[in-house]
Amino acid sequence: MYRGLFISFEGLDGSGKTTQVKMLYDYLIEKNIPAIMLREPGGAFVSEKIRSIIMENDISPYTEALLYAAARAELVGSVIKPSLLAKKIVVCDRFIDSSVAYQGYARGLGAENILNINKFGIGGLLPDITFFMDITPEASLKRRENATGLDRIESEGLAFHEKVYSGYKDLFLKFPGRIHRIDALGETVKIHNEIICFIEKQLFKD
Ligand code: TMP
Repeated sequence: MYRGLFISFEGLDGSGKTTQVKMLYDYLIEKNIPAIMLREPGGAFVSEKIRSIIMENDISPYTEALLYAAARAELVGSVIKPSLLAKKIVVCDRFIDSSVAYQGYARGLGAENILNINKFGIGGLLPDITFFMDITPEASLKRRENATGLDRIESEGLAFHEKVYSGYKDLFLKFPGRIHRIDALGETVKIHNEIICFIEKQLFKD
């Protein structure tokens, strides 16, 4: 028997996580397992509006961090918590680790500060499982080189993404039970199968 589970995907821009989020969601629906797919920032009406403000305006790092936390608080309260209570599987493209890596490390605001403002907004809710789609900053940059329509944060250069990456690596060391590393340079279907295998063990373990 399965239970409600909160699964997040993390990684540098261009790591392929959005593709894997969709593949996992499609798999769960095909198996008749109640699931929802969300993205951050966004996923709820007000959170999507906050996403536009973040992406379309040149704002200070502090404003940026607070807006990500506000979008997350709204998403958690209005969608994630009710879905988990209804025993759904929540598959979320990014969550709090993104704020720690991007705002805490890359923008230099500090991991503890970011954790604190987020704790205020969402309490102690953390994903049950986080897949860290691991590609190097160089590979990330290469994948984004030919992309069009990059947002304000995706357009940051190598030095910024190197700091994001070091944030993710520290988080991986800090939360070894929650964060599962995936070699994101592998083949898409192979990665999907690895993810499914891992999740099925969680779903049917009790
Ligand atoms: P996306 O491209 O995965 O939709 O994410 C949008 C951008 O926002 C991406 O460059 C990462 C960034 N981001 C943060 O900087 N902090 C956060 O807390 C989140 C959720 C995303």
